[in-house]
Amino acid sequence: MIIILGLFLLNMKYPIAKPYITKKEEKYALEVLRSGILSIGPYVKEFEKKFAKFIGTKYACAVSSGTSGLHLAMIAAGIKPGDEVITSPFSFIASSNSILYVGAKPVFVDIDEKTFNIDVSKIEKKITKKTKAILVVHIFGQSADMDPILKLAKKYKLKIIEDACESIGAKYKNKKVGTFGESAVFAFYPNKQMTTGEGGIITTNSKKVYDLCCSLRNQGRAQNMQWLDHQRLGFNYRMDEMSAAVGLAQIEKINFLIKERQKLASLYNKALVYYDDIVQIPGNGNGRNHTYFVYVIKLKNSRIKRNSVVKNMQKKGISTKAYLPSIHLFSFYKKMFKYKKGDFPISESVSKNSLALPFYIGLKKKDIEIICQELIKLWRI
Ligand SMILES: Cc1ncc(COP(=O)(O)O)c(C=O)c1O
Repeated sequence: MIIILGLFLLNMKYPIAKPYITKKEEKYALEVLRSGILSIGPYVKEFEKKFAKFIGTKYACAVSSGTSGLHLAMIAAGIKPGDEVITSPFSFIASSNSILYVGAKPVFVDIDEKTFNIDVSKIEKKITKKTKAILVVHIFGQSADMDPILKLAKKYKLKIIEDACESIGAKYKNKKVGTFGESAVFAFYPNKQMTTGEGGIITTNSKKVYDLCCSLRNQGRAQNMQWLDHQRLGFNYRMDEMSAAVGLAQIEKINFLIKERQKLASLYNKALVYYDDIVQIPGNGNGRNHTYFVYVIKLKNSRIKRNSVVKNMQKKGISTKAYLPSIHLFSFYKKMFKYKKGDFPISESVSKNSLALPFYIGLKKKDIEIICQELIKLWRI
């Protein structure tokens, strides 16, 4: 099913996303293949070094996905069954699932209608004796409002873990996301600002967290242990050398990748700004830059429903997507926690009306104008 969907999207004139791969990625990946060292080798090390330098943390531990990184970050933070972790319902499901993996309870707080990040004014009410951490999701490429979150964390002695999977390079008051919490996690699926195929990475300034994550990703082996010694219950969450080779080539041009995405977003903003009766363009919070994992608009005029917009755009060869469903309304969350419609109205309203437009390096001004014209035409008929 996924393969069929993938092929279908590739056949679209404008797919929703595409990775930006050059000769450099090919060269590094080929070097790995020819070296014969396909796992636990120099590329992962070099990738981690360059990634930590870009983010500005002491350590980075590469893993097999953003999801596995979040799982390890939860374990390293000592989150246990019975604990509560505050987070956003407007995210990819992996963020709150990582809280479930360690037996804790995700406690959702509604979002801000402009940035779609957690509404910081609603967090304190949700803090209880069981609250151990805030899993801060930086959504779509933009930082959450960190000052009030850090203040609350200090006041109630809560850990901060950042889900920065969608927000590499994003800054809050000139400080990069990934540097605020005890740990942070980035993801590299091919629709992200940079890719490794599948992959993720944990950033931290804590040697203890770093050593623990490196051990956990490698079946519980300690760094200096013999191959068959295991110190704790671990996983195979390692990143392989070919993924790291692609990642290395990508992190070496990350500033270019981000700048290009910002240029595309400003072209979309320009093309859509006059239609504010129909669409809300992405809003920037104070002191924040946006590195655009996706370009998501919110439809304001309900005369034409979002799902019918998706279908109509598809007929024109333009792939668009509902982005994102609210996690608390997924069937198993509803069953486990008795969540219902209306619990987080802002998140639900964004989920119902948001639309991701085609967004990848290679789109030209003309393409963006065509996409926006086709979109607006739906309301003008
Ligand atoms: C906010 C968020 N968290 C976690 C993940 C999980 O990353 P992965 O798909 O690499 O497991 C993603 C990936 O899309 C994400 O967007």
